[in-house]
Amino acid sequence: MRKPIVAGNWKMHNTVQESIALAKYIKDGIAGTEKTEIVLAPPFTALYSVSAVIKDTKISLASQNIFYEDKGAYTGEVAPGMIKDAGCTYAIIGHSERRKYFYERDEDVNLKVKKALATGLTPIVCVGETEEERVKDVTEFVVGVQVKKALFEINSLNNIVIAYEPVWAIGTGKVATPMEAEEVHRFIRGVLSEMYGSASTDIRILYGGSVTPENVGELIDMEDIDGALVGGASLKPDTFLGIIRKVSEKK
Ligand code: 13P
Repeated sequence: MRKPIVAGNWKMHNTVQESIALAKYIKDGIAGTEKTEIVLAPPFTALYSVSAVIKDTKISLASQNIFYEDKGAYTGEVAPGMIKDAGCTYAIIGHSERRKYFYERDEDVNLKVKKALATGLTPIVCVGETEEERVKDVTEFVVGVQVKKALFEINSLNNIVIAYEPVWAIGTGKVATPMEAEEVHRFIRGVLSEMYGSASTDIRILYGGSVTPENVGELIDMEDIDGALVGGASLKPDTFLGIIRKVSEKK
């Protein structure tokens, strides 16, 4: 049985005080959602403060990125150990915005996944095709390569979460239909099954891209969709709680 996850990626939003207020609101509103795991990914500056708010609750903390070295002269980067020290147990890795604006390659994603695992952080590895790639009908090829390269030389799927986020659905309001998403999730599970055998049945694969309380129910009904990675809607407290509740009712 795969426990569903609803993760909120706040991206580059919220001051420390705003982050604390949002985390408190969510903490106070999650009664009755025991069946769902909740992860919050505030900006780096608010990680430690949010970790204090969610201490002793079932809410977990994620960073939105990590670097793949432990320490050193890497101006502007944040080491996995520092992330963990700030209270994180998860790290989002390879988000399409990092790939697009900061030129992260699959090789970087792989180094980061390895370092996250070595540090005791659970990576949430993001993959997904662009609109152009979908139109050209190369979605499976693109996503397959991203998955294989991200997990290169990693010999167990323990403590790994995958997020399928079609780039064309991120921040656009153009959500993938449940079937479109399910097809790619099933494909990813198939790729993992070739790589890891039966362990692939336990890995959680989240969908991300314009998720709302209105569309999450149908998505989560799909067999291979194990939760949601939510951007914009995670910044609105009641909307995010609505998504969490919907997932808890369904799975
Ligand atoms: P939106 O929910 O705003 O489309 O963003 C999805 C996302 O990128 C989560 O990581």
